[in-house]
Formats: sequence, structure tokens, C-alpha cells
Amino acid sequence: NKVVLAYSGGLDTSVILKWLQDVYQCEVVTFTADLGQGEEVEPARAKAQAMGIKEIFIDDLREEFARDFVYPMFRANTIYEGEYLLGTSIARPLIAKRLIEIANETGAEAISHGATGKGNDQVRFELGAYALRPDIHIIAPWREWDLTSRETLMAYAERHGIPVEMKKGKSSPYSMDANLLHISYEGRVLEDPWAEPEEDMWRWTVSPEAAPDKATYIELTYSQGDIVAIDGVAHSPAETIEKLNKIAGSNGIGRLDIVENRYVGMKSRGCYETPAGTVMMKAHRAIESLTLDREVAHLKDELMPRYASLIYNGYWWSPERLMLQTMIDASQVNVNGKVRIKLYKGNVIVVGRSSETDSLFDGSIATFEDDGGAYNQKDAEGFIKLNALRMRIAAAKRSKSGK
Ligand code: ARG
Ligand code: SIN
Repeated sequence: NKVVLAYSGGLDTSVILKWLQDVYQCEVVTFTADLGQGEEVEPARAKAQAMGIKEIFIDDLREEFARDFVYPMFRANTIYEGEYLLGTSIARPLIAKRLIEIANETGAEAISHGATGKGNDQVRFELGAYALRPDIHIIAPWREWDLTSRETLMAYAERHGIPVEMKKGKSSPYSMDANLLHISYEGRVLEDPWAEPEEDMWRWTVSPEAAPDKATYIELTYSQGDIVAIDGVAHSPAETIEKLNKIAGSNGIGRLDIVENRYVGMKSRGCYETPAGTVMMKAHRAIESLTLDREVAHLKDELMPRYASLIYNGYWWSPERLMLQTMIDASQVNVNGKVRIKLYKGNVIVVGRSSETDSLFDGSIATFEDDGGAYNQKDAEGFIKLNALRMRIAAAKRSKSGK
């Protein structure tokens, strides 16, 4: 009778830990992941030990997260509802995977998480868990207990000797989720969609107004759709994202303020900081613009919203997501080359792209100068006429019938 808990070390999941011991009388195994959220994960060990936990898992998942989740997602230029780069959504399937692996390793029959019954995260954790282990039991305390306000939660913590001063870094009034790819902010003043967030809410980016007056240029090298070097220096996926977060964040890049549609049906207002992701999106489109066939690119663009919804709604481990991924990955074999980018006061401006091996751009054909017969302009005449045929027939009928 064991349960693996996704444990951040913060107040909420510490209350959950205690509550599981109390109400379910079960042995709790904790799992804490470093996904690049920029906070120490080791303190979670002492906190878990203090609550009598014997099996404590603390994993650095940054490279796996970047390589197997973030990078594959960016190969599709994935964006939800035209705006959201899915920073939280893409981390959940990895957490689900580790929860199940640890459950299998420790002989646990259940997992537990701190997501509420109102959000997307519960769906993502649980769809992922069921897809990877069909008989898993899931305990979602927020859907069960009556600690529904901040006050009752605090009271429970005090009653059970859980230090309420469990400050996780700089304390924040917002509901936050951070990893390598982004920080999200929800709740409090943001619950009014008309209210502008305080400037000091943002943690990774300076405001565009406060960004340097001088532009920063960077050069990104792509191999099969993935960034493998910045300014000619090779970096792992996680290092690349970390570096780009710093460079872009200091140029005021990556802030977003939206109202989005949650899978459970409600609209929700959220603010996001995704500096590296904002650059990666632009740069990837730039290298694809040179190296992808038009129809391949357009087909990718048609399927992308479906792929984005699959990730947003928690279907990372579904057969249809895996099928789309195979297709997306196959499209990337020729996406090799370099993109030059200018970062300036919140803007990501592509200023150059090149691919020695895979560029489909043919200057001798596209030129406005004399092309020496590479392209026969007379071919265009029949091409246009045949494409116009049905419209000419319709126009002729119209004028005959006087409509
Ligand atoms: N609304 C975003 C999403 O659904 C962010 C969720 C943030 N989660 C959190 N536990 N604070 O992906
Ligand atoms: C939560 O409800 O736990 C966070 C927000 C979300 O999952 O959408």
C-alpha cells in the first residue's frame, strides 16, 4: 500500500504528503524533478525525511526534458491557440512517465499529484499515467479533500507541524509553474482579464523598455531541425535553452499575456515567460523556409494545431501523437543550416539564413536580373490560364444570365 507523490517540497505538496499518510494510511514515496525551474531540488529531501519518508527520488531531468520533449515539439513549430508555447503542457508527460517508472520500481500501486480538479495538469498527469500503466490508481487530493481555501490549507499545515514558511525561492502571490522552457503565472490579480500584471511579476525577462538600446546578434546552427550550436559553439539541448533564455530574456523577449481555453471547458487568463522558446520558434521557421518543400511545409502547418491540442490536452503518449511525431521528424532530415538573428527590445528579427547542404532556394531562378533562360516566363501564361479556367467559365455564365 504505497503511493508515489510528485513532490515539489513546497507547502501544497507537503500538505498532500501528510494528508496521504493520514487519510490513506499509506507509505509515501516522493519524487522531485529538476526540470530547470531554477530552484534547488535537494531541500525537498530533508523535508520529506522530516515527514518520515524512506524512499526519496530526486532526479535531474533537464536534458531528457529538453531532448525528448521540448526539441521534438519545436520541430513542429507548435503553438496553442496562436500564442501559447506550451511550457507547462510539455513537461507533464515526462513527470507522468517518471511517476510510473518509480511506482514500478518501488512496487507502488498508486500515484498522487497536486493539480486541482479545475485544470489541465490533472488531465495530463493522469492520461499519461494510464497510457503507461493501465491499472495505476490515482489519488488527486484537490478533488477529494475539503481544504479548499488558502486558510484551511494553512490551518491544516499548522495543525500537523508542517512549516508554513516553506518558501520556494522568492515568494509570489501567483500560481506559478517553471521549467527550462517557461514560467507561467495564473491567479490573483490575473483573474481579472483586464488587469495588467505588475512589472515585478516577471522573473526571467526585463521589460522591452528597460532592454539595452543596442541589439544583440546571435547565430544558431541547425541539424535535422534541432539547434546544435550557438555562435558556432556546440551545446546540448538543455544548455541551448538555458543560454537562449539568458540572451533573449535580457533583451525583453518572451512575455505573453493571454486568455486560453482549458481542456476542462473554462477560459483562463495566464501570463508566460518563454524567452528561449520565442527565439527558437522564429529561427526554426527561418531555417525551414529555406530547406522545406512548400507542400511539406504547408502540410506541417495544417497539422500543427492538431498536434498542439494533443500536447495541451495531455495526449503526448497517445498513438496519434506518436504518428504525427514520426511524420514531423521525417520532415526534418534536410532542415540543416544556420540562422542569424537580431534581438532587440522584445523583438526577434531574422536577418539571415543559409544552408550549404539543403537549401532549396535557387538564386539563379529567383533573380530579378537576367536568369539566362533558367526559368521560361512564357510557361506562366498557360499555368495562369488553366488555373483561371473555372473562374472564366463562371464569369461568362454570369454575364450571359445577367446576374
Ligand atoms: N495554463 C497553462 C497550461 O495549461 C499553465 C498551467 C500552469 N500550471 C500550474 N500548475 N501552475 O499549460
Ligand atoms: C491546476 O489547476 O492545478 C493548475 C492549472 C492547470 O492545470 O491548468
